[in-house]
Amino acid sequence: MKSLTDNASRKGGVKQDPAERYYEAVAKLGVNEHLRLALGLLDDSLEKVAVDCGCGTGRDTLYLLGEGFVVHAFDRNSKALEQLRHSTASAGQTSLISSQQSFEQFEFPRAGLINASACLYFCSPSAFDQFWSRLVKSLLPGGIFSGHLMGANDSWINSKRPPLTWHRESDLAQMFTGFDILHWDEYDGEGETAIGQKKHWHTYRIVARKKLD
Ligand SMILES: C[S@@+](CC[C@H](N)C(=O)[O-])C[C@H]1O[C@@H](n2cnc3c(N)ncnc32)[C@H](O)[C@@H]1O
Repeated sequence: MKSLTDNASRKGGVKQDPAERYYEAVAKLGVNEHLRLALGLLDDSLEKVAVDCGCGTGRDTLYLLGEGFVVHAFDRNSKALEQLRHSTASAGQTSLISSQQSFEQFEFPRAGLINASACLYFCSPSAFDQFWSRLVKSLLPGGIFSGHLMGANDSWINSKRPPLTWHRESDLAQMFTGFDILHWDEYDGEGETAIGQKKHWHTYRIVARKKLD
């Protein structure tokens, strides 16, 4: 008998892949808390230009647009971007610059805020260091990074293919030299994904301000 649980479920008889199920599940959740926090700490004098990495269907992008930012939102999933463009078009939103791109290739514009929620661990490990140095370079002095990174104990590390990018705390300390840490929390425990699959999560939520030159 075919199992419907792991890779797909059915909605109205149509197979849904895990990404679609994820986007549907988070649509109800609204903005990620760390981004709300980051905005509250952002220097008002910085240009209101933001990047939303791995934006998905845009739960964070929509919030940033609503707060008056020009948002460069990218993701490799074309269907998610289509949905995001549809939401913004119906809201008459014109400050969205969206593109179907990957972490591995994205060229950042200069930005006051760079957000990356629940996604950077999907960057190829061999491309991550270059991705991170492009990100840091493009962030304006005084600008803020907000997002998640994966720790060494996450159960996906041994089960996901292609391999995920994860960091030890010492790697993170190195990555954030040149930043003041404004918020840092760690979750290392059992939990579930947005679509209800049980797993061990080990993630860091970080909000950090790039030091002035
Ligand atoms: C768990 S979702 C998070 C989406 C959104 N940031 C949120 O908080 O709801 C991860 C996103 O990363 C995107 N993604 C995965 N690998 C990627 C890559 N190599 N380059 C760009 N986006 C990628 C996926 O398409 C997906 O939309």
